[in-house]
Amino acid sequence: MKKIYRRVLLLGLVSSIGFMSSCEKEYFEPAPPPDPNDTTPSVDTVSYSLDMQPYFDANCVNCHNGGIVLNLSPGLSYDALNNGGYINLATPASSNLYVKINVGSMKQYSTPDYTAMTLKWIEEGAKNN
Ligand code: HEC
Repeated sequence: MKKIYRRVLLLGLVSSIGFMSSCEKEYFEPAPPPDPNDTTPSVDTVSYSLDMQPYFDANCVNCHNGGIVLNLSPGLSYDALNNGGYINLATPASSNLYVKINVGSMKQYSTPDYTAMTLKWIEEGAKNN
């Protein structure tokens, strides 16, 4: 009899712990699902090395690798963009780089997401981060 009593007590204890923790979960509010129409990149801060250069590598470097104006190759692209006057920190949307991929002849090689990311990067100060 004593053993059974203990088991019942233990069972009650275990289930009440389970009940308490399941209560806690109800206070947890999940993050809203991402808006499928939102084209802004998911990153908070655009990184030159992790976001911009891989974008150039995948979409631009096959042409912009030294043979034509604006070398976007890794290690050279940042200086080429800044020294060549492609970035306008005062009015980011008028930066030559952004205009070229947004409405100019390079638009065909970019995507709305990458173009928005480029503008964001310039707005954040075109850092070599
Ligand atoms: C198929 C080859 C090719 C690809 C891919 C390409 N470009 Fe170009 N790009 C050119 C050529 C050729 C020019 C010069 C003629 C012109 O401006 O349209 C040029 C010019 C530019 C210029 C203006 C340079 C200047 O000083 O006049 C920018 C900025 C530029 N490209 C950015 C990009 C970016 C960013 C990408 C990738 C998203 C890209 N390009 C992809 C061939 C390419």
